[in-house]
Amino acid sequence: MTKAIIVGSTGVIGSKVKEILEGQYEVVTVNRNSGDYKLDMADSTAVENMFKEIGGFDALITTSGYGKWGSIDEHSIQDFHDGLNSKLMGQVNMVMIGRKYANTGASFAVSTGILAQHPVEGGLSLGMINAGLEAFVRGAALEMKDMTINAISPSFAKETMELMGMDSSAGVPAIEFAKLYKQAIEEGKSGEIYYAS
Ligand SMILES: NC(=O)c1ccc[n+]([C@@H]2O[C@H](COP(=O)([O-])OP(=O)(O)OC[C@H]3O[C@@H](n4cnc5c(N)ncnc54)[C@H](OP(=O)(O)O)[C@@H]3O)[C@@H](O)[C@H]2O)c1
Repeated sequence: MTKAIIVGSTGVIGSKVKEILEGQYEVVTVNRNSGDYKLDMADSTAVENMFKEIGGFDALITTSGYGKWGSIDEHSIQDFHDGLNSKLMGQVNMVMIGRKYANTGASFAVSTGILAQHPVEGGLSLGMINAGLEAFVRGAALEMKDMTINAISPSFAKETMELMGMDSSAGVPAIEFAKLYKQAIEEGKSGEIYYAS
């Protein structure tokens, strides 16, 4: 069976990705606190050790990573570093190290977010991280000729808005984002940014 690794499988979006891949894929789950492998994707040594153990795989989806939410006055320089190290470099680690172990034709799908193109107050760090990661995806796609790499850019999941105590009427059900990750790893395009319509 085709093997798919999901980093962030217990999250709002990752849990839906897991739901729709199970049955069709042999799913390997990775998180910091639970799953088949427990690690912080910012830790490149732990990431390398995990791939050595897993061996070949066909798809890698990352729905994980931290970035600070807060106003410019609430951002320290360290806050930027923390987000870059986690959401940006964590996902870059997964691709850069994972590609050495991936089967020919493997697909990678990482998570960015709407703040890359549509800034809002409070989203300074995450917008910067998302835009940087999208540039990485486009650049890597040019050179990863026997694999595909794409990004999914969620807007705001209904479930996340509910968790935050917000009015969720404009939210997109997480399952709609999950379908985009499946589409991204299956349709053979590379260097694309997928948005929920
Ligand atoms: N939800 C939204 O509305 C929304 C909107 C725009 C963009 N996004 C992006 O989409 C992705 C998924 O969002 P989400 O809301 O589903 O996240 P979430 O509910 O917070 O879940 C995050 C998942 O990733 C794991 N994780 C977090 N940091 C990790 C790390 N450093 N190493 C390994 N695993 C880690 C968590 O498990 P552990 O805690 O056990 O590690 C959890 O399974 C994120 O990159 C987020 O920025 C989400």
